[in-house]
Amino acid sequence: MKRFHLLTAFMVLFPAFLFAGEGMWIPMLLQYNEKEMQEMGMKITAEDIYSINHSSLKDAIVLFGGGCTGEIVSDYGLLLTNHHCGYDYIQKHSSVEHDYLTNGFWAMNRGEELPCPGLSVIFLREMRDVTERVLEGVNIDTPEAERQAKIDENIKKIVAATEKETKYKVSIKPFFLGNEYYLLLNEVYTDVRLVGCPPSNIGKFGGDTDNWVWPRHTGDFSIFRVYADKDGHPAVYDKDNVPYKPAKHLDISLKGAEEGDFAFVFGYPARTNEYLPAVAVDQEANLIDPIMVDLRGKVLDIYNKYQEQDPKVRIQYASKHAGLGNGWKKWMGVTEGINHFHGVEKKHEYEGRFYDWVMQSRSRYMYANLLKDFKQSYKELEPYELAYTYMAEAGLRIELVSFAGRFVRLLDVTKDTPQEDIDRILYQLKGTSASFFKDYYEPIDREVAAMLLKEYLKAQPADFRPDFLNDIKDVDEYVDKLFAKSMFTDEAKVNELLDDFKPNKVKKLANDPALKIYQSLIGFYRNEVYSHISSLNNDIDRLRRIYMKGQMEMEPEKRFSPDANFTLRVTYGKVEGFKPQDGKTFRHFTTLEGIMQKENPDIYDYVVEPRLKELYNNKDYGRYADKDGTMHVAFTASVHTTGGNSGSPILNAEGQLLGLNFDRCWEGTMSDLIYDPDICRNISVDIRYVLFIIDKFAGAGHLIDEMTIVE
Ligand code: ARG
Ligand code: GLU
Repeated sequence: MKRFHLLTAFMVLFPAFLFAGEGMWIPMLLQYNEKEMQEMGMKITAEDIYSINHSSLKDAIVLFGGGCTGEIVSDYGLLLTNHHCGYDYIQKHSSVEHDYLTNGFWAMNRGEELPCPGLSVIFLREMRDVTERVLEGVNIDTPEAERQAKIDENIKKIVAATEKETKYKVSIKPFFLGNEYYLLLNEVYTDVRLVGCPPSNIGKFGGDTDNWVWPRHTGDFSIFRVYADKDGHPAVYDKDNVPYKPAKHLDISLKGAEEGDFAFVFGYPARTNEYLPAVAVDQEANLIDPIMVDLRGKVLDIYNKYQEQDPKVRIQYASKHAGLGNGWKKWMGVTEGINHFHGVEKKHEYEGRFYDWVMQSRSRYMYANLLKDFKQSYKELEPYELAYTYMAEAGLRIELVSFAGRFVRLLDVTKDTPQEDIDRILYQLKGTSASFFKDYYEPIDREVAAMLLKEYLKAQPADFRPDFLNDIKDVDEYVDKLFAKSMFTDEAKVNELLDDFKPNKVKKLANDPALKIYQSLIGFYRNEVYSHISSLNNDIDRLRRIYMKGQMEMEPEKRFSPDANFTLRVTYGKVEGFKPQDGKTFRHFTTLEGIMQKENPDIYDYVVEPRLKELYNNKDYGRYADKDGTMHVAFTASVHTTGGNSGSPILNAEGQLLGLNFDRCWEGTMSDLIYDPDICRNISVDIRYVLFIIDKFAGAGHLIDEMTIVE
């Protein structure tokens, strides 16, 4: 069989240049980018970044908590990541007496560090190309089901064989939409302790107002430490564990970065889709995203109205607001960016060229129908995607309904269910219920429910609605009744049910109107939507895999980078500002001055700590000041990043730490679909600001003493 594995072969033969900035590169193949990186200013080698023969920068990078990136900055396992990545663990340790979220936390010695059960960090020890072995026995004509079965079988064999020769965790992941496969050897450390974090008005300064936006002034960092057993191996928490000694920790530069300087990010980007056909980009950017933006925008308006009226409600809805608002703002940026950049038209042009290329040779028969098939599949998918979107964003967004949904587990209880099973469910539901009511404000939910149900009815045709919607005559009356009749608005009633639950109460529970709505939504999805979505997506995955192969064959001289898939990647570009629109130019950095300009004691997101003001007034920046004399806070660069890159180190030409990546500018969030070097910028907090806060603000200079600082 002729194996398809173009990437490596063609890259050696025809090294060519992409837009600087674009692409998320596989570290073990970085030698193919080395020349370009060095031409852009890099002073180190690909081997310095990733090597399996000696220590390299990769030994300092971890997947943090399953969703972010972290980096080791001392020989004692000291780790930096974002504040928003450590948030959950900081919150878990916070109480009214010890409010670390509000006031920050600093362990002044190792004994004061706080264990974080459930938190792990993962080191990549080695990566191997196993494409040939995974695809053994399949070819372009192998029927899809057979193909997948064969691949699964091959993967199982390879993993089993590798497990025998290694102590590491073995996994295999598809790259290039299943055209290539790589094996990963990982080591997972589970004793990770909280060492320090700034108060939220530094770590989350600007809050959701500034989220995704430049100019930015967020000190988005937190500090942890990885512990190991005496031999440096992973171990469950034990007070006798010792700080993990990495093969390599990152050096920290105090020089800062100038406009135009080479910079790279090393971390764990989660998901991108750069090779979608035009029809899919159009569907996402111009149909689905705007609906989600519209619905969430309306929900957020209602939250805002009540949050402004009452400080208690403001806190109750802060985290919900942050969650909804993060997607809302990002998707707005995606649509704006795709249209501004003429992304769909550009994809169409490209597809025109692809089609011409296919038609030039009979041997390209397998690509002949691709674009037509894409159109057909996405068209068929559309009504189901819409149905799903409304179910999730309109139906389940009603808090009462999704809360009631948590109780469906009780509906299966009968006289014969063992009491201990029932007790376990009741115990969990008590926890769910307590945290629900702590942050529930009924007037908000009532108004949201009425608004969303009207939107749902307006948008979805009768045969794409769950049954309950078709039974509604007047939404306002319906909502009034729902909130009056459901027990799930009333904590006392819910507690009564949980404290004194008997199987004979199931019938009454099943009749609760909120639970019935939940059942109707989920039933509709299960019976009418899911099977279509999953079978259409299987078709689409196949088409995308073949299209990817075709694109690589058409442009053998181009270097392709595989879509992000939560594996370690290197991305690089320059430190630079940008012009988001005509007449508007952004400088690449912000300073402490900007924090003072934004300060507003009446707006939660813009409160400034007195201690920070004092340092500012005395210009007490020590060695952390820029050579221009100011305190730099954040900076932008043209480096291709996405979710999961939060906490990733951004490094200079020498491979020294310049800052921590934490966001993108929303004008460029379309970079998950199409990267445009003119407007896609990532945002990082300047490492000098991080050190300044640790040292001058918190007085935790002992942490700095552990680090390697390059002046
Ligand atoms: N936008 C960043 C990301 O996607 C930061 C989110 C956390 N910050 C916030 N203000 N909600 O994850
Ligand atoms: N804040 C994002 C994260 O948590 C990174 C921003 C982005 O999507 O680029 O991963």
